[in-house]
Amino acid sequence: MSASCDITHVLWLVRIPEVFADLRPEILAAMAASSRKELGVYSLVRLPAGVSPRGGAAGIFVPWCLPVEHAWPCDPGKTEGFIEKAASALARKFSARHPRTVWVGVLQPGPGDGWFKRLASNLRGRCLQLFPGSAMPLAEAGSQQPGEAALFCMIGAGGLYAGMASPRECNGFYPGGIHHLPKSAGTSISRAGAKIAEALHHAALHGKPPGKGTHWLELGASPGGMTLELLNRGHHVTAIDRALLDPRLEGAVGLEFYQKDVSSWHPARGRKFDALLCDMNGDPLDAFAQVLRLKTCLRDGAWIIFTLKTTGREGMDELLALHRKVLAGAETGRCDHMATTHLSGNRREFTMWFRC
Ligand SMILES: C[S@@+](CC[C@H](N)C(=O)[O-])C[C@H]1O[C@@H](n2cnc3c(N)ncnc32)[C@H](O)[C@@H]1O
Repeated sequence: MSASCDITHVLWLVRIPEVFADLRPEILAAMAASSRKELGVYSLVRLPAGVSPRGGAAGIFVPWCLPVEHAWPCDPGKTEGFIEKAASALARKFSARHPRTVWVGVLQPGPGDGWFKRLASNLRGRCLQLFPGSAMPLAEAGSQQPGEAALFCMIGAGGLYAGMASPRECNGFYPGGIHHLPKSAGTSISRAGAKIAEALHHAALHGKPPGKGTHWLELGASPGGMTLELLNRGHHVTAIDRALLDPRLEGAVGLEFYQKDVSSWHPARGRKFDALLCDMNGDPLDAFAQVLRLKTCLRDGAWIIFTLKTTGREGMDELLALHRKVLAGAETGRCDHMATTHLSGNRREFTMWFRC
């Protein structure tokens, strides 16, 4: 079944995280989306041709999206020969375009998705037989070329939805954008350990992330989940926080810690860092002002990963205004904005990447 014969509009599958569920109608309206249908944790929407869900200002609320070129609304459990029919239709439609690989994800991930997960895995297996040269183990998803198109398919109780796009266009290497990375070491101290693991995985969509041995300046490090994750990856960390780090980090190799307010910390003359991480709570504009102040001790080309907390900001307009202020500050401070997204480990906050 073809997705649409209407050339003025394109069908998209978009995910808006649960923490922003209250803003969903406003976010979709900002994209001029019409005819919305809920499919698990995704929305199937029609957008004017040429508009991408992540293209406009409201795109920061969309951590994953897919242009749908093939839609088969059905109940896979009640469709005889579903896998064979679905795989042959996909092969007829997409094999001549040589997708780098084929991914199949589930529309409603989480507990109770076992049957669909198995179906997804079987459908993928059959597709890989029909798309010569497209095999790639799931574990290697993060090593895809971010600009190279793959065939992304999503299945669930609402049917099968598929399209060809690059991981960069979809904003994720995995189908649906939700994939639980192997448990990171840092989570033994705080859940933020998983956030930095995801932020580094995601960074590969935008360039070559800082390699092993990088010296990080970390603002707002306590209790130290992110610190431990960075140390475990072979980085050096200079961490600053008003509060102490978890005692398990005491004496950790590669770690230097200052118990101080960031605003009163000054690096030694000539001291240079390769990357900066800021997860400070409090007012986000004050936190970003500290990032810009400390930019002078970053080497050229250094990466900045900044958690944009939304403390004190409520509706979509306030959140977008906050994001715009940070972007304006970055421009004045000569930091190139690479991306802003909502990671699966984020609460009502965003992760931003910059290069200076
Ligand atoms: C969300 S927690 C950081 C969690 C940490 N990234 C982890 O991985 O465990 C925010 C931290 O920012 C620190 N913080 C906020 N404002 C600060 C300031 N002006 N100076 C120093 N630390 C600050 C707080 O003390 C708090 O520990």
